[in-house]
This record gives sequence, structure tokens and C-alpha cells, in this order.
Amino acid sequence: MDKKSQIQHSCVKIYLMGKKILLSGIKPTGRPHIGNYFGAMRQFVELAKDYKSYIFIADYHALNFIQNKAEMKENIIGVLLDYLAIGLDPKEVTLYKQSDVSDHTELTWVFDTITTMPYLMRAHAYKDAEAKSKEIVVGTFNYPMLMATDILLYSPDVVPVGQDQKQHVEIARDTAEKFNHIFGETFKLPEVMIMKDVAVVPGTDGRKMSKSYGNTIPLFAEYVEIKKAVMSIVTDSGEGIPKNVYAIHSLLRPASELLPIYENKTGKYKELKELLIEDLEKFIAPLREKRKEFEKDIPKALAILKAGGEKAKEVASKKMDEVREKIGVNVY
Ligand code: ADP
Ligand code: TRP
Repeated sequence: MDKKSQIQHSCVKIYLMGKKILLSGIKPTGRPHIGNYFGAMRQFVELAKDYKSYIFIADYHALNFIQNKAEMKENIIGVLLDYLAIGLDPKEVTLYKQSDVSDHTELTWVFDTITTMPYLMRAHAYKDAEAKSKEIVVGTFNYPMLMATDILLYSPDVVPVGQDQKQHVEIARDTAEKFNHIFGETFKLPEVMIMKDVAVVPGTDGRKMSKSYGNTIPLFAEYVEIKKAVMSIVTDSGEGIPKNVYAIHSLLRPASELLPIYENKTGKYKELKELLIEDLEKFIAPLREKRKEFEKDIPKALAILKAGGEKAKEVASKKMDEVREKIGVNVY
């Protein structure tokens, strides 16, 4: 590195040191939808300018749901392309995958030893899983502990997520407090960050938009898919303004613009849906095109992910060393 680049490098370092830290991740369990985007992903991009950001792919979390090599690989690459296509710049953001940083699973064990079963049994995700089936894997039960390590290894100030992940961030805070209490001050307590207006984006059936409900509008949908999804939005003939159509539309236009249109077209559901299709297409088309560009050079995208993993590892392994020291296993 020449002198000028060295100075530039140090300036960037000093600048980043003053920034607050942001961390979040997404499970590679299928195509993202506009609920994921407005609830979580969009914030990653908007906040990357003001925060030193760690954004990762939670592949070990996904292993609870995806147990197929080809599908796992495809999904990991999928989320990577999604991240790049929405505008996350690897020069600004550390992009990595959880399985590249083994400290995540190591710290999970340490947290397991200070967390009680009744405490984890109160987690919503566990309760939901229990309501559906009695044969719950330990990975599902332990999900919040792995998520706590994902967060705490990087000492973030904020964790932007949708409403459904709030409890998990609270569990991470509790776990940090408990560890600090037993072994001495080690972990910073993170704050959850939830965008109020988009905390829960509704799906085409009015329930929370979710991959598992089959009620999504995919973020990178082709025009025909957008059309099909919008036409399937459930409308109640009793309403003047079709609630579900309006709720999705309001992600794209402010109420001051949207309300007069909806009031003018009371009862004309088909016309309103057609307008929503056009607005969604305008919003999605550029993202879709960008993703296709990144898709042309997957080795390049993977190199970004790998380099991000190495950067993340540096941070995580320092914290893990501190943990080993605090718990007393560092005897050399
Ligand atoms: P899904 O429920 O579709 O499986 P994930 O659990 O993968 O979604 O969620 C990834 C991120 O997107 C999380 O931060 C989550 O809180 C957010 N999210 C998911 N669905 C919605 C939604 N309908 N509205 C707002 N945010 C959401
Ligand atoms: N549990 C999150 C989800 O289902 C994904 C996730 C894993 C995460 N670890 C995280 C999000 C750490 C924020 C921070 O969406």
C-alpha cells in the first residue's frame, strides 16, 4: 500500500470506529417477499450509510427447515444475490454466512449452559412449533440461543428486524445480562429496531405475509407472478376500500396520494388491483433486473461472501477469546 492509500485506509478506519454498529440476518429458506423487504431488508440498505453493518445469511438456522444439499446451496446463493440486488455494497457492509464463523456455534454451547429450559419454552417460535407437532428438533428449541450468539459476538447497537423477531432480540439481551452477571461485563446489550409502519406486512389473504402461509408477493417476482398474486388478494365485498389491497399499496405510495384514489374508486376492486400491479411492477422491475446482472457472475458474488466471512471471523473470534478467558478455559 502506498502512503496515500495508507492514509485513506486509516481515515476510513477512524471514521468507521466512530459509527454505531448494526447487525441483522435472514434465513435462506426460500424466495424473499415484499414483507421481508419492507419489514427488514430495506432498513439494511438505508442504515448502511450511518452504521457499521454486519449482514449475514443464517444458514445454520435454516438447517432446521432445509435438509437437502442442493436446496441449501441454491438458497444461500439466492440470499446473497438478493442482498446484492437490493443495494448492499460489500465495501460498506460486511456480508457473510453464519457457517463460515464457527464461533457462532461454539458460543451457543456456552449460552446453553447458563439458560434454563423453562425460559426457552416461553419463546413464541417454540410454542408455535409445539402447537403444530410434538416432535420438535433440539435445533428449533435452541434457535434463540444461536440467534443470541449471532448478535452478541459483534457487539451491535441495533438489530433491525420485523415484529416477529422482537422476542428473539430480547432473549439475546437477557442472555447477555445473565452472562455479564455470572462472569463479568463482556457483552453489550443490543436494541431491537422495528419500523412501525411496516412491522407486519399483510399477505394476499390478510394474515402476516409469510413464506409458510403461501400468501406472498415475491420481492423479485416476474410481472406474471405479480399479477397472479395481486389478483388473488382477498377482498371483502362489505368494505368501501379493500383493506388488504390498500395495505399492500400503502407500502408504495403515501396515504395522501393513495386515499383520494381509493375514495374515487370505491367498490372498483379490479381497477384498484390493476393499479397496484402497475405500481408493484415499477418498484420490482429494477430490482429484478439488478439481480439478473449479479446472477451472471456467481463466482464473483461468492468471493464477496467468502471475504466477508474472513472479516466477520476476525471480530467474532476476538469476542470468543474474551469469553474463553472469562469462563476460565483459557489456561495457557
Ligand atoms: P417468513 O415469515 O416469510 O419465513 P423470515 O422469518 O425469513 O420470513 O423473516 C426474515 C425477516 O423479515 C425478519 O426480520 C422478519 O421479521 C421480517 N418479516 C418477515 N415477514 C414479515 C412481514 N410480513 N412483515 C414485516 N416483516 C416481516
Ligand atoms: N431469526 C431470524 C429470522 O427468522 C434470522 C436471524 C438469525 C437473525 N440470526 C439473527 C436476525 C440475528 C437478526 C439477528 O428472520
